[in-house]
Amino acid sequence: MIKNSLTINEEQLLVAKEILELGGVVALPTETVYGLAANAFNEEAISKVFETKNRPSNNPLIVHIGKYNMLSKLAKNIPIEAIMLVDEFWPGPLTLVLERKEIVSDLITGGKDTVAVRMPNHPLTLSLLNQLEFPVVAPSANRSNHISPTEASHVIQSLGDKAPYVLDGGACAHGIESTIVGFKNGQPIVLRAGAISREQIEEVLDKEVLQINDNSELIAPGMLKKHYSPNTPLSIVGNIFDYVHVRSHNKRVGFIFFKKNNHQLEEYDRILTDNGSLNEAARNLFKTLYELDALGLDQIYIESIPNEGIGVAINDRLLRAATSA
Ligand code: TXA
Ligand code: MG
Repeated sequence: MIKNSLTINEEQLLVAKEILELGGVVALPTETVYGLAANAFNEEAISKVFETKNRPSNNPLIVHIGKYNMLSKLAKNIPIEAIMLVDEFWPGPLTLVLERKEIVSDLITGGKDTVAVRMPNHPLTLSLLNQLEFPVVAPSANRSNHISPTEASHVIQSLGDKAPYVLDGGACAHGIESTIVGFKNGQPIVLRAGAISREQIEEVLDKEVLQINDNSELIAPGMLKKHYSPNTPLSIVGNIFDYVHVRSHNKRVGFIFFKKNNHQLEEYDRILTDNGSLNEAARNLFKTLYELDALGLDQIYIESIPNEGIGVAINDRLLRAATSA
């Protein structure tokens, strides 16, 4: 049984490797969300990623590496704090924005003088990266501004005809994107909330770290307001029970509750976590949105999430996904 599944993985890896070596695009699993990968040293391949996602060319990409020594090929003047974070969190859901080296294409950086790099922590993808002679760019494998995919089927649901070969690595362990840390005047700064909380970063660096929320000048373009959106209108509400009456108006309405409660769940209702675990809620968030979005409802209401730990990243995504609050 185990031998069999290993063989399937090995075959899939071989296909993915060949496509990437030929300059093609492959969707692959990471511990955060599925990525849309292409050879980071091949500009034609990189262009295909933008095309497949319909992504604006000024929104830069994260370079994914499998070996530590690749970092110094891509980036220079790496601050000591960055090394401390690498030591603690790689492979894992931390992206570093660092001074780029010449080898990094303008297509990747959107013409900026920085490059974003991370080492993902998924056994299949790590194994693939370590078999390749080059790193890969990999934005989330959804069409631009749509919900990030946390399962192989989501990639197909989001990209439709444009979906490439998907390396199926199962459901993503974190279910929310990596935390992006950059440096301004030598000071670390969280540019995107993600699977690693600011508190975890502060603990490793033993100092306070700034977090940017909507500073449009410094901000990563992927932090633009409208993002991560389902096709169905989505509203975040404080008390979801205030909205239950909307159902009586003959509308097909879905409710997403943070945790289990006494409410009798109806057909379009979902809960993110049984016991109030923020990690479980993060894992289920995009999956739940994909599920309800596929039903073509008139409206989805979601309860706001406790704003601590990974809950900060969840609320950040919800605010960008919502049409009105
Ligand atoms: O967890 C993740 O990071 C996933 C998986 C696939 O690894 N990837 C991901 O990529 O979320 P994407 O493209 O959906 O989001 C990347 C973010 C964007 O907001 C982009 O603007 C920002 O990273 N970014 C990339 N390079 C940057 C740079 N040089 N400076 C600032 N922000 C950058
Ligand atoms: Mg994305």
